[in-house]
Amino acid sequence: MKLVRLGLRDLARCLKLEQRNFPTPWSEPSMKAELVGGAGHLALGLENDGFLCAQVFGRVVEDELHILNIAVDRAWRRHGLASKLLEELFQKAAGLGVETAFLEVRSSNVAAHHLYDSLGFKRIGVRKAYYPDTGEDAVVMSCKLNKVRKPPKTQAKDI
Ligand SMILES: CC(C)(COP(=O)(O)OP(=O)(O)OC[C@H]1O[C@@H](n2cnc3c(N)ncnc32)[C@H](O)[C@@H]1OP(=O)(O)O)[C@@H](O)C(=O)NCCC(=O)NCCS
Repeated sequence: MKLVRLGLRDLARCLKLEQRNFPTPWSEPSMKAELVGGAGHLALGLENDGFLCAQVFGRVVEDELHILNIAVDRAWRRHGLASKLLEELFQKAAGLGVETAFLEVRSSNVAAHHLYDSLGFKRIGVRKAYYPDTGEDAVVMSCKLNKVRKPPKTQAKDI
């Protein structure tokens, strides 16, 4: 597994990964905006033999990291890839002076809730009817970067 920085040249494969893994995927312009780069934009992927299996997008605003999107292809789930990508994202964000990470997650997304809980994220609020496609609430979570837990899998695996 190889860690890669994602850029505009990766647009097509990032969109495909997005579409395979979300019922309401980001549009092409939204994906482009994250891949175009620029101050505070962080876009990382994990490749296996050149195939993009996982991606994460974050934005740094002053001392905050906002995790915008993370996806791992079905065949690669529960192998520590999301944890690894987030760990790398946190390291890069810390290098930019970030102290706290924030995210929003659908209230029904059990896998994501378990993932963020396992890393030490805490619920700090709810945005009612936040997602226009389903009307679902978003749970807002945060974690101080110096308090993030390192899951055992990512320590053990050479990814
Ligand atoms: C959520 C998602 C990114 C997790 O990716 P992943 O690579 O499978 O996660 P990891 O292997 O790093 O999991 C780390 C820990 O999170 C928890 N976890 C992850 N998926 C879980 C699931 N389906 N059920 C229960 N716990 C889960 C576990 O504690 C896991 O550790 P363990 O496998 O040792 O028990 C992946 O399921 C996904 O891409 N889902 C579709 C897109 C999505 O919902 N993205 C999140 C938007 S907020």
